[in-house]
Amino acid sequence: MIVSPSLLSADFGNLNRDIEMINRSEAEMLHLDVMDGVFVPNISFGFPVMKCIQKVSKKPLDVHLMIVEPQKFVNEVKDCGAHLMNVHYEACTHLNRVIQQIKAAGMKAGVTLNPATPVCMLRDILPDLDLVLLMSVNPGFGGQQFIHGTIKKVKELKELINETWSGAIIEVDGGVNLETGIQLRDAGADVLVAGNYIFKSPNPTEAIHLLHEL
Ligand code: DX5
Ligand code: ZN
Repeated sequence: MIVSPSLLSADFGNLNRDIEMINRSEAEMLHLDVMDGVFVPNISFGFPVMKCIQKVSKKPLDVHLMIVEPQKFVNEVKDCGAHLMNVHYEACTHLNRVIQQIKAAGMKAGVTLNPATPVCMLRDILPDLDLVLLMSVNPGFGGQQFIHGTIKKVKELKELINETWSGAIIEVDGGVNLETGIQLRDAGADVLVAGNYIFKSPNPTEAIHLLHEL
């Protein structure tokens, strides 16, 4: 299983220490949650902080933009060293154009779905995507409870990916722990994002290892 720890649950007073821990771990990516207080009811961090993270992180940056009008910031996200840029389906009026802009900037393109958005909305864009991020909580905060209907959505998305000959992989974000992780693996998820499960664990490196082993 590919593991992408969410830095939102890290100790922001000790970011270097926490990013070094991830560098030494089996995590394949580092998940960065950007929030604007408009698309979601919370504000996290932005480009100046991400530029500092880029200097310390040895893992590819998996950037999850929970902001309105993400198409305005494709170049800024690229300049922060993002490997993957995730935009919300619900935030993009011209999703196809945004995806082409992300790819033209040299990043992998991902689309994120809120819990209430059905996977069928992605049918026509799926062949153009590298990744689909399914939210298993309502975005905005770490430490929320997993929404169980996500398991069925992962299965549906897997079928749709096969049907449309898409090469997209499936990432799930919110309330992921060992228990929900096993169910997500069985349903067909490829990447697990985890914040609280990793950073609130007495041994975060081991928590990453356990998810990775699923
Ligand atoms: C929520 C963020 C998540 C969050 C996950 O809006 O997108 O990445 O940090 O946190 P946990 O794993 O604690 O639910
Ligand atoms: Zn996220």
